[in-house]
Amino acid sequence: MKINKLAPSILSADYANFESELKKLEASGAEYAHIDVMDGHFVPNISFGAGVVASMRPHSKLVFDCHLMVTNPEQHIEEFARAGADIISIHVEATPHIHGALQKIRLAGVKPSVVINPGTPVESIQHILNLVDQVLVMTVNPGFGGQAFLPETMDKIRQLVQLREEKGLDFDIEVDGGIDDKTIHAAKEAGANVFVAGSYVFNGDVNERVQTLRAAIQD
Ligand code: DX5
Ligand code: ZN
Repeated sequence: MKINKLAPSILSADYANFESELKKLEASGAEYAHIDVMDGHFVPNISFGAGVVASMRPHSKLVFDCHLMVTNPEQHIEEFARAGADIISIHVEATPHIHGALQKIRLAGVKPSVVINPGTPVESIQHILNLVDQVLVMTVNPGFGGQAFLPETMDKIRQLVQLREEKGLDFDIEVDGGIDDKTIHAAKEAGANVFVAGSYVFNGDVNERVQTLRAAIQD
């Protein structure tokens, strides 16, 4: 049985006050801070880069779960490792060198995670599952917070649970996009164990919202 974890996304936080936003998350008992890095190329938006992660690092003990929505992520791994990332997620769609890029993350002393977009099949990552500590299944198309959860992505979670069992592997399954107090149930039911939530957590009382999500995933 995998441990369930909550990963609020600071994409929906107040960017002028990351220090206090991180403290709120820590006080709420969330395990991860999910950090969405967007380059304006792989996705239309630009968010923030490794410098922001490095500035936040001394202010928080949370696991920094860095989701790189950038083209050719292999060029930025060392930078994010130095900045204090604990987990680095890279998209299979963003590089022709996914195998080497995941190895590079491990070599940098960071946990490798691979991401698939809603339109990308599980088959595209089946040969690198042995290299990762986490698979992130996008439950919206990446680029923006506040989009509606896509229930059709749940089949891929079930498929990954089966593959993990067949191959005797141990990766976490994370979901990201449109997760709230209602949609989280379907994701948990399908077999996900790490839950990202951005707008749901920050568009309200952070502590209350984290507790509500926690109650929803209690075994
Ligand atoms: C979407 C990002 C998400 C985003 C989720 O591109 O990867 O992490 O912050 O936001 P919500 O929870 O609002 O869908
Ligand atoms: Zn994300």
